[in-house]
Amino acid sequence: MYNSIQDTLIIGKKVIYLPTCHSTNDIAAEIVHAGLFDEGTIVITDNQVKGRGQRGTDWVADPGQNLTFSVILTPGFLPVADQFLLSQTVALGIHAYAARYVNNAKVKWPNDVYVNGKKVSGVLIENSIQGSRIASSVIGIGVNINQKVFTSAHATSIGKETGGQFVLSEEFNKLLRFLDSFYADLKSKTLHDRIRQDYLTNLFGYNHSVLFKHQERVFEGTVSHVTPQGKLVMKLLSESGTLEVGLKEIEWLKD
Ligand code: BTN
Repeated sequence: MYNSIQDTLIIGKKVIYLPTCHSTNDIAAEIVHAGLFDEGTIVITDNQVKGRGQRGTDWVADPGQNLTFSVILTPGFLPVADQFLLSQTVALGIHAYAARYVNNAKVKWPNDVYVNGKKVSGVLIENSIQGSRIASSVIGIGVNINQKVFTSAHATSIGKETGGQFVLSEEFNKLLRFLDSFYADLKSKTLHDRIRQDYLTNLFGYNHSVLFKHQERVFEGTVSHVTPQGKLVMKLLSESGTLEVGLKEIEWLKD
């Protein structure tokens, strides 16, 4: 069971708990569509049977072991051209939460969080655009907490990395406070450059060489920067110059 929290500014003041559901993003989208909701409302389940991931993938999480929820936001203050800032903000919130437990959490572009080279969290953001503004955004978040066995060799959980066993509702509240605080920073436009810099500082491959595949070629390089539109710019080690890539255009070869 998860309770709403009142000591945040926006996120988590209303929590809708469903013991089982298909995808919390889908339920949240229906709520948005119906039109009556408060910003910061959360849909959370203990058993998501048809979780969706980025690029049409599935998000599979053992029931009752992990956090799977969606936050509804209305970032009307954010121009569409800056929408990647929302992704960066959410990634930083989850990263800050994970960093309470482990000292080597990394954001992996665009918004995954990795611990010891394995994925502990994924985010699926579905925006609805009106004109040049983001009218509403469903932020789907999966964080592996207590699950110890994974079918993928690239997945892990906070519990597996720390050897701990956590109370999900308490972890949910801690995570919400981080997300709320980073979202408050996003609302304060003067902090946008700091969000971009924090994101880069915590990004996998920044100031540290990584191997990746792009258009069937293998490269070694470091992250140079991320464009305001969210493209990743890699500085190549073997050749002078940079490579700008979008989603689906890069495959990391070593976590
Ligand atoms: C990814 O890394 O591919 C994104 C995974 C996002 C998973 C979360 S779990 C809660 C929310 N509901 C969904 O169907 N997906 C997101």
